[in-house]
Amino acid sequence: MKFTVTTKSIEEARADALIVLQTEDGMAGKTKNKKIAAHIAAFGRAVTARKTAAEWFCTLEPEANAATAHLLLDSVSFGTWLPPREKLKTTACRAGEICRKYSLKRLAIACHVKDAAAFASDVAEGLALGDFRDTRFKSEPNGRPELRVQFLVRQRDATSVRAALKETQPICEAVNEARELVHAPNNVLTPDALAKRARAIAKKSGLECDVLSERALERQGYNLILAVGAGSVHPPRLIILRHKPSKKPAVRDHIVLLGKGICFDTGGYCLKQSHNMHTMNNDMGGAAAVIGAMQAIAALDLPVRVTGIVPAAVNDVDAKAYHPGSILTAKNGKTIYIENTDAEGRLVLADGLARAGEEKADIVIDFATLTGSAAAALGPQIAALFTDDEPLAGALLTSGTETGDYLWRLPLVRDYEALLAHTLADMSNIASGGGGAIHAANFLKAFVPEGIRWAHLDIAGPATYKNNTRYFTPGATGYGVRLVTRALLGWTRKRT
Ligand code: BES
Ligand code: ZN
Ligand code: ZN
Repeated sequence: MKFTVTTKSIEEARADALIVLQTEDGMAGKTKNKKIAAHIAAFGRAVTARKTAAEWFCTLEPEANAATAHLLLDSVSFGTWLPPREKLKTTACRAGEICRKYSLKRLAIACHVKDAAAFASDVAEGLALGDFRDTRFKSEPNGRPELRVQFLVRQRDATSVRAALKETQPICEAVNEARELVHAPNNVLTPDALAKRARAIAKKSGLECDVLSERALERQGYNLILAVGAGSVHPPRLIILRHKPSKKPAVRDHIVLLGKGICFDTGGYCLKQSHNMHTMNNDMGGAAAVIGAMQAIAALDLPVRVTGIVPAAVNDVDAKAYHPGSILTAKNGKTIYIENTDAEGRLVLADGLARAGEEKADIVIDFATLTGSAAAALGPQIAALFTDDEPLAGALLTSGTETGDYLWRLPLVRDYEALLAHTLADMSNIASGGGGAIHAANFLKAFVPEGIRWAHLDIAGPATYKNNTRYFTPGATGYGVRLVTRALLGWTRKRT
């Protein structure tokens, strides 16, 4: 999708479709052309007069300007429960869908509102994420023409709108990259293929990339990653991406983003039931979030040092696979009794946390499709946040509300820690009783190296959607990319 910003008026713009949205701020299209103005005003009145809010209101009215279809959409009354910015993105997505339906490729969007930069950014995001279709695995990939979108702005808003789009566009591209990674089937996206993709992204974006082979993992004592990956013919990898800012860092802290990269989770010997197992190529949604975020962070050259760490493995069944009842020694020396081979994510992350310590992280944020329990508790649209660090919680919760990557904080219950104890080993990899997401988080907490600030996001719910949701078609969402990139963006800005 191509975005441009122009100070042309509604009458001057050359496009296949002129899009005017009703916003909280009134109709977003102002014009001196009486006929078009009357048309827009009539729409605004009609929207205001309607009491029921559930439906879209849209006209395809070529009459006011013969060459251009006029799309007027009400972004206020649609989905009244949604925050205004999410409504706007969803409406923009709908406008894009209508344009696709009528093969309208050149879109002009009027941005005559108070905060034109925020408006244009949200519209761009709704269009870019809403227009994403993954046809790579069809025998005949459906090559749709690129949409070309012009934002019509007032002179005084041109600079701020351009600056906003310069951030939003690479973030959306990174979200869509993460969605492609998650969609890639397990026979295609092996740990090695994921590492190769990460390397290609690194090269394109100016990130440094290190990949540890199985041999290197053995030499360096990553026994948990090795154990989880032992049952697969596709050996595990540890992928490391580094962003070193070209400018003087505005934030002193070294941030590590850690992502669960299970390319397929059969459950191992504690085999999953077959009806949903096929979805478990999504079990690298955390890895995709980290790789996508690293791409965006590099593209924006954020003035902060960020390192992405992705332990990648396939949890499979085989004579060489790890077994329930084994006792393993983690990279940090702790011993773990394997009570359930399906609780594999926390194991690879435990070794990933040890690496974060070696990298001298100040802050670690991990992303993982870790437990069915988080998805059951919060449903498909909300991730579970666990942290004892109040400023980190505040920053992530705020970013969640602002970006639409929603999260809800759950407690790291101290009293439950004892439930992970084991008579023979230092810990068991599961706890008995309910509260699975909390036990998993408590397990990770035990592996956070001393002195590191840490937050854990269980994204088992929002990594993928089964149904059309806001501006997402069913499938991967790229959850986490916007959340963490925008959180860091805000952070670096505050400190400069
Ligand atoms: N990858 C799964 C969690 C998951 C489930 C993600 C459903 C997305 C949708 C994870 O490895 C797992 O199997 N967790 C178990 C843990 C249990 C054995 C303690 C779970 O949540 O049931
Ligand atoms: Zn599992
Ligand atoms: Zn898993």
